[in-house]
Amino acid sequence: MNPPRILVVDDDENLRWVLQTQLEQMGYTAVTAGSAEEAIGAIEKEPPALVLTDLKMPGVSGMDLLEQIRRDYPEIPVLIITAFGTIQNAVQAMRAGAYDYLTKPIDYDELALAVSRALEHFRLVKEVRTLRASLDRKYGFENIIGHSEVLLTVLDTAARAAQSNSTILIHGETGTGKELLARAIHYNSPRRDKPFVTINCGTIPRDLLESELFGHVKGSFTGAITHKVGKVELADRGTLFLDEIGEMPGELQVKLLRLLQHGELEKVGATSPLRVDVRFIAATNRNLRAMIEDGTFREDLYYRLSVIPLELPPLRDRAEDIPELVQHFFVKAKEAQGRPNLVLPASLLPRFQDYRWPGNVRELENVIERIVVLARGDEITLADLPDFLRRERPAVDMLQLELPPQGISLEAVEKELIVRALEKFHGNQTHAARYLDISRKALIYRMEKHGIRRKAVEGEEEMLPADDAQAR
Ligand SMILES: Nc1ncnc2c1ncn2[C@@H]1O[C@H](COP(=O)(O)OP(=O)(O)OP(=O)(O)O)[C@@H](O)[C@H]1O
Ligand SMILES: [Mg+2]
Repeated sequence: MNPPRILVVDDDENLRWVLQTQLEQMGYTAVTAGSAEEAIGAIEKEPPALVLTDLKMPGVSGMDLLEQIRRDYPEIPVLIITAFGTIQNAVQAMRAGAYDYLTKPIDYDELALAVSRALEHFRLVKEVRTLRASLDRKYGFENIIGHSEVLLTVLDTAARAAQSNSTILIHGETGTGKELLARAIHYNSPRRDKPFVTINCGTIPRDLLESELFGHVKGSFTGAITHKVGKVELADRGTLFLDEIGEMPGELQVKLLRLLQHGELEKVGATSPLRVDVRFIAATNRNLRAMIEDGTFREDLYYRLSVIPLELPPLRDRAEDIPELVQHFFVKAKEAQGRPNLVLPASLLPRFQDYRWPGNVRELENVIERIVVLARGDEITLADLPDFLRRERPAVDMLQLELPPQGISLEAVEKELIVRALEKFHGNQTHAARYLDISRKALIYRMEKHGIRRKAVEGEEEMLPADDAQAR
């Protein structure tokens, strides 16, 4: 790595030279400028790692230079040199954003220390900024792939709710992205720098859940040999994600409700409650309303949790998101499996859109990985797809039946289907019967029953004898 470049700005040529020599002896690269104007030109050409400037110079002052750097190059630290006894100027410079100041005559140990501290500080600032940007990318709403209307509506509400402290209840089938959404909310909330803690109420054994969640005091029960900090306390000032909230046992629902209402944590065995500041996001794939009906979920807790309800729709209800998701997971899997040349032809996409995806996005992600791992050639073909994707979709599924509110006669529907099938095959009864999966005799019987006259639909009567002959 190159040594950091430092720009020394001073109208005094002598001092410039001394500082340059000193800094180079300390292992830095030093360049110089005789005025603020010259310094600005030098910064524009190649921004240095740090600027060391005299405050009092003819023309543009060191103070103006400082202000300009703060405004246009916030990532460059500035150290100020002031004459002895002008402490007032130094204070003013610090206020304007100088990192530190040195007084003349310059003590070189002090200079070395100030320079290294400033560089270290700004390196950290930069690192945090990059880290933050990559966190945003990892957990932001942009990571939630899909542009369907339903999904965008949910994301829009979620993004607005993220700014508040209100409790959110996310509902959705397994694998629809509930946890992904909860994280995105946290990392877009004012609590983003504080912890995001998850607890899965469904996988922790009942008798451990209370201590896991609320913590316990040493000696509060047999086995409590140490103090335990619970997840609620860990999430203080951050967000607690209560996953599978529908699995929470009744006694704990009461305790959780008290916590939600008063912000007071009752540790197991503790004599007094502890105040915590936690934002709660809960998720479930259960129908909590039905659970309220049968008495397994508390209604008061339900209302307290669902201040902002969010519903993630199942993947089959947003088939327009599927091509984008397939593409996303395909690129990811190719990278992970080291198969950069693999191609997935667009002609296969309808196969993915026709399937019902009971495991939703998680299932899709895993299926794509399997396809990539097992692909024979560089181009995915139908043969590479698992058989549930190869199978044609049952035709009834594809019939877009919209039931009219006033009701409809089954007889009328049957008649309509027969007429349409005959039209499709220009009156050819053999083909129409095969298409409708009935015998030709059955078709003729039904045509008579519904009063469908051959001629009305055939149009080409001369085709009839041939058709009849063929059928016999
Ligand atoms: N819209 C999406 N875009 C990209 N990835 C997604 C999307 N939805 C879900 N995923 C991915 O699918 C997987 C399952 O998501 P997640 O764990 O958030 O689902 P869940 O609803 O919490 O499921 P469960 O109810 O089973 O816990 C994760 O790998 C997640 O990253
Ligand atoms: Mg989950």
